[in-house]
Amino acid sequence: MIEKTVVLIKPDGVKQHITGEIIKRFESAGLTVVGLKFVQLTQPILDVWYAHHKDKPFFPGLCEQMMSTPVVAIVLSGEGAVEKVFGICGPTDPAEAAPGTIRKDFGVDKPHNVVHRSDSVDAAEKEIGLIFTPAEIFVL
Ligand code: CMP
Repeated sequence: MIEKTVVLIKPDGVKQHITGEIIKRFESAGLTVVGLKFVQLTQPILDVWYAHHKDKPFFPGLCEQMMSTPVVAIVLSGEGAVEKVFGICGPTDPAEAAPGTIRKDFGVDKPHNVVHRSDSVDAAEKEIGLIFTPAEIFVL
C-alpha cells in the first residue's frame, strides 16, 4: 500500500550538516519526497506531537532540544513507507541500531538520535496536519 510518513531531522542532525545524506538514503530506497521545509517547532505543537510522552521525565528536555534550532520536516511517500523509514532510521536508541542505519551512523544517545519518524500511518497523518498545509504536499 502507498503510504505517507514524516521524518524530522532534529537539531542534532541539522547541526551535523547531513540533510542531503539523510534525504539520499530515503530516495535511494525508492521513497519520494512530497513535502519538505524548515520548521521552528513551538511548545503548543510539541504538546500535541509528543502527547504520549507528556508525563515522561524526559519530556521537558526533549521539547527544549526540539526547539533549539529549526528542524527539517520531510514527508515521504511510497509503498510501505512507514516500515521502510523505520528500517532506514533504526530504533530509538542509537546504541541498539544496526550499522548503516541513520541513528547508528550519526546518533549519540536517545535524546540525540538525529531523526524523528512516524510510528504509524495514523501518526503520520496527525503529524502532517500539525506542520504542513495541504497545498505544501505535492503529488508527483
Ligand atoms: P522519537 O522516537 O523521535 O520521539 C520521542 C523522542 O523522545 C525519542 O525519539 C527520543 O529522542 C526521546 N526519548 C525517548 N526515550 C527517551 C529517554 N529515555 N530519555 C531521553 N529521551 C528519550
